[in-house]
Amino acid sequence: MEDKLSVKILNHPVVKHNLSIIRDKNSDCERFKNALKRITYSLIYEATTCLPTVKKDIETPVGKALCDVFDTNAQLIIAPILRAGMIFCEVAQELLPFANVHHIGMYRDEETLEPVWYYDKRKEIKEDKDKVFVLLLDPMLATGNSAVDAVENFISKGVKEENIIFVSLISSPEGIKRLTSAYSKVEIITACLDERLNSKGYIVPGLGDAGDRIYNTLD
Ligand code: URA
Repeated sequence: MEDKLSVKILNHPVVKHNLSIIRDKNSDCERFKNALKRITYSLIYEATTCLPTVKKDIETPVGKALCDVFDTNAQLIIAPILRAGMIFCEVAQELLPFANVHHIGMYRDEETLEPVWYYDKRKEIKEDKDKVFVLLLDPMLATGNSAVDAVENFISKGVKEENIIFVSLISSPEGIKRLTSAYSKVEIITACLDERLNSKGYIVPGLGDAGDRIYNTLD
């Protein structure tokens, strides 16, 4: 069997157009969030192509159809990294209403650029570990430090590396390198790969601070 590529960049005109709205410093909070939500649908669809399905007979008004439905033995965890990851969560829950949401609270130390944990919803995973899938959500894959920490957290709870999918809007080459070198089996789904990080760990050209733009907390 061929190895799957671990990084998938969405390359779609609708995504690109909405990305231009998101990047624009003159887009207000409402415009920014609406454009981001439109892209989120594509990201979540792409991120869930690996979810297992089973066959089920369904009666239509005119006959019988053999359909594919989600395998209820599999457990899906949606894990938004607070606070910016919450913007993906609403759409992810809408598309995957049976999933559990496992919030991860982390902020970035501005000096060291290392993540500081302040919240971890679930201390252990009790389900059959082989059947647990995790969608880690964070719009910005910048240094990759939080991403690596979050993946490590789920692996330490028994989740299989290949069942973890990292979903981001914009990624930096540095972040992709850091995450893929630490965990090559984690799949990364992103709308765009940008040029680089600046000295403060922001993605260039990026969109600025995602949390501030989503929650209207720019000074
Ligand atoms: N977090 C953000 O919100 N923006 C970046 O550019 C990098 C990290």
